[in-house]
Amino acid sequence: MLYDSLPISDHELVELRPIVRSDIDRWYAYLSQPCVFEHTSWDLNSPEDLASHVLPLDGTSPEAMFRLAVSERASGLLVGTIGFHSVWPPDRRAELAYDLAPEIWGKGIGTHLVRLMVKWAHEHAGIARVQATVMPSNARSIAVLRNCGFEYEGLLRSYRVVRGRPGDFGMYSHIAGEP
Ligand SMILES: CC(C)(COP(=O)(O)OP(=O)(O)OC[C@H]1O[C@@H](n2cnc3c(N)ncnc32)[C@H](O)[C@@H]1OP(=O)(O)O)[C@@H](O)C(=O)NCCC(=O)NCCS
Repeated sequence: MLYDSLPISDHELVELRPIVRSDIDRWYAYLSQPCVFEHTSWDLNSPEDLASHVLPLDGTSPEAMFRLAVSERASGLLVGTIGFHSVWPPDRRAELAYDLAPEIWGKGIGTHLVRLMVKWAHEHAGIARVQATVMPSNARSIAVLRNCGFEYEGLLRSYRVVRGRPGDFGMYSHIAGEP
């Protein structure tokens, strides 16, 4: 992914930084909670399983993936992640992904981070279209996307396997230049 700077969060509680190997256990600890994964396609069995999704963690990730740790300012500990699990540079398109530990839900942090990443993608990474695919049951995530100006484009039927069964996903997008 081509970019000229990393996104910087000015939120009083959290900041963004690269994901490091020592983050994996904390990330897995909340991603393996049913309230976190139930409205997503995550299907993890262990921290090693999660690490295999995001390795290498040494800054040499494939161009198609770009994900950052959301870390608590006070402790430096990982409390979330946000980034793009798929990037298509020739089409200037990227698909957003994010998750936060339930302890920090409902404080506007998701909305702050999605707004920040979308602005950064358009202004610094050359992305014209940021898309997000969301299970229709994921009301919190849909609220965040709506807050950030995403438009609903329709239902993708049996789009992604959710713990063994094809699941429907809503397609949302934000285009460069939109509010
Ligand atoms: C989705 C997620 C990142 C939201 O983070 P957050 O910091 O709580 O988000 P915010 O506080 O900015 O906004 C939450 C919104 O959900 C709304 N909300 C909260 N509980 C809700 C519920 N039960 N039903 C509907 N909306 C709800 C809030 O009112 C708020 O919307 P508003 O600002 O329009 O009032 C977080 O819930 C999460 O990590 N979920 C698990 C992983 C996940 O689903 N990732 C996204 C996959 S597409």
